[in-house]
Amino acid sequence: MNPLDLYAKIEPLIGFYEQYEILYQTYLRYINALHIGSVLDVGCGNGKFLKHLLDREIDAEGIDRSASMVQRANEIGVRASCKELEDFEAERFECVTAVADVLNYLPQKELAAFFHSIHRVLKPKGYFVCDVNTLYGFEAVAEGVMRFEDETRFLCIEANYADKELLTHIAFFEKEGELYRKQNGQIRQYFHPLGELKKQEGFRLERTESLKLFGESPDKTLLIYQKR
Ligand SMILES: C[S@@+](CC[C@H](N)C(=O)[O-])C[C@H]1O[C@@H](n2cnc3c(N)ncnc32)[C@H](O)[C@@H]1O
Repeated sequence: MNPLDLYAKIEPLIGFYEQYEILYQTYLRYINALHIGSVLDVGCGNGKFLKHLLDREIDAEGIDRSASMVQRANEIGVRASCKELEDFEAERFECVTAVADVLNYLPQKELAAFFHSIHRVLKPKGYFVCDVNTLYGFEAVAEGVMRFEDETRFLCIEANYADKELLTHIAFFEKEGELYRKQNGQIRQYFHPLGELKKQEGFRLERTESLKLFGESPDKTLLIYQKR
């Protein structure tokens, strides 16, 4: 199974919905202030952020590499697909978003190409708004062991951070009749220092905002880029 689809399966059990809602409201504050009319949400997940955009009558669509996530997004009435950035026409959107550490799924060496693809789909002077986990977010918030269970499911997550990488092991047990079926997966996330993020070709980093969603120190940084 695609590890992102396994993540889609366990996401309702982890349920960071309250914290993510705070994050969505922060994005919406900027999107309103910038008078954005069209948005492509990369890594749209379950589509909840797209729904907020739709409710504000913004022309919005999402893409995600997990087909299960895309299905869930479509079920709540938003437009989502498994397209890649390359599948869109150039200069199509006023804004691209990547909400809830989507950028941390990309290794350092893929970052420049990702920014290049976003640059292509943005209108002149368009915005790219995203957030990344801080070092504190990785070391103090994400690292460790978590377990969840209900009557039919059991989940154990173990995350270890070293050398700018967070490796998350997932063991998920789902009841099938009298027995449990086990699914294993691994997700790798990468820490991107602010210095690296500042020097993305074709963009000016206009503004950053530190966010405390989970801890007592900032665990995420919101970044607002404008296409040069
Ligand atoms: C932590 S979730 C956040 C989902 C959503 N933005 C939200 O706010 O709930 C990260 C999502 O990014 C997706 N993803 C990771 N890398 C991606 C990529 N390169 N392109 C598209 N989607 C990606 C994953 O499948 C997952 O749904």
